[in-house]
Amino acid sequence: MVDCRLEFPATQRNSKPIANVLQGVLPRIGTVLEVASGSGEHAVSFQKLFPSLRWQATDLSLLHVKSISSWINYEGLQDIMPVPFVLDVSLSPWQLPKDLVPSICAIVCINLMHITNWDHCKLTIVESARLLRCNSPLFIYGPFKKNGKHVSQTNVFFDKSLRERNPDWGIRDIEDLEVISNNVGLSTKRIIKMPANNFSLVFTKLG
Ligand SMILES: C[S@@+](CC[C@H](N)C(=O)[O-])C[C@H]1O[C@@H](n2cnc3c(N)ncnc32)[C@H](O)[C@@H]1O
Repeated sequence: MVDCRLEFPATQRNSKPIANVLQGVLPRIGTVLEVASGSGEHAVSFQKLFPSLRWQATDLSLLHVKSISSWINYEGLQDIMPVPFVLDVSLSPWQLPKDLVPSICAIVCINLMHITNWDHCKLTIVESARLLRCNSPLFIYGPFKKNGKHVSQTNVFFDKSLRERNPDWGIRDIEDLEVISNNVGLSTKRIIKMPANNFSLVFTKLG
């Protein structure tokens, strides 16, 4: 098989702090649906760390899905890790294999919200709320504003550069994400300040 592994430097840097949070958030068994998995470096690292879970990686980009497959092969995880597939979070309802849905125990979304438009952010939350069972978590990680304000000068520059690349992109406000989540039956469980001006947001599906 051709080696299509991509390497994202930021992904390698933030893996450990994210894993530390996930440790206290993820259920013990079931399938974690990860959207926008990117290179797949998080996916394989978290699959190794949480062997009783099945880590279902997905991404919009076929190039990234190929990278995820290559990482799975490289790490020798083919027997325990599901085959990654293309999932576009902007298409409602999400196109998921039917047998996957009942096994979903958590949804993970890392570094997507700032590089997609606001409607797709909302849809990601709405679809997660539809798919998750009672008490199951939605974990979102990335750079965010708090109460409409940037938390660092670096984020001000980053936000500007994102909007220059695409006017529909940009750093979102935690409170806006909370309003959407709370309106669709996801309660805010934890908001954790992370290294490099990022946050982990943990929502759980209400009964
Ligand atoms: C900044 S990268 C983050 C990748 C990975 N989660 C990480 O943190 O390394 C954003 C990812 O979102 C994916 N993406 C963008 N729009 C998407 C969409 N509509 N549906 C699913 N994935 C999308 C991109 O292909 C890319 O892999």
